[in-house]
Amino acid sequence: MFLADPDRSASRYGSRGRRLYSLQDATIAATFSMLAAEAVGLGTCWVGAFSDAEIRRAVRAPDSLIPVAILTVGRPAEVPSLTPRRPISEIASLEVYGRPFPHRPVRRELIRPTW
Ligand SMILES: Cc1cc2nc3c(=O)[nH]c(=O)nc-3n(C[C@H](O)[C@H](O)[C@H](O)COP(=O)(O)O)c2cc1C
Repeated sequence: MFLADPDRSASRYGSRGRRLYSLQDATIAATFSMLAAEAVGLGTCWVGAFSDAEIRRAVRAPDSLIPVAILTVGRPAEVPSLTPRRPISEIASLEVYGRPFPHRPVRRELIRPTW
């Protein structure tokens, strides 16, 4: 379970820390944990659908913390097939919003099917 700590971020960075950095911190921690798990052969699933109140109760977290994500971690029972991704041209811009991003994959095995 990854929780944001808005009070802690606000004490150093003010309202921007409270509103944004605390969420960024928790999300970065969760994402890098996924990579670390993968690196040692484990699988993860990001879970964002939960009740904040129930999760706080389950992990005995104070109300001041915001539940951001649950990460299930385990030994994968199967190797799932690649799922599609939106094309890069739809999600990335070069320097200004809407300017096409010239994208050329460097490793063929990283190419994902697109919607
Ligand atoms: C923001 C976000 C929230 C998610 N919440 C859940 C969730 O609550 N339960 C769940 O089973 N999968 C959830 N997923 C989906 C899985 O973590 C995972 O992305 C999915 O199994 C598909 O894998 P793929 O992204 O490699 O295609 C969520 C994904 C994202 C990006």
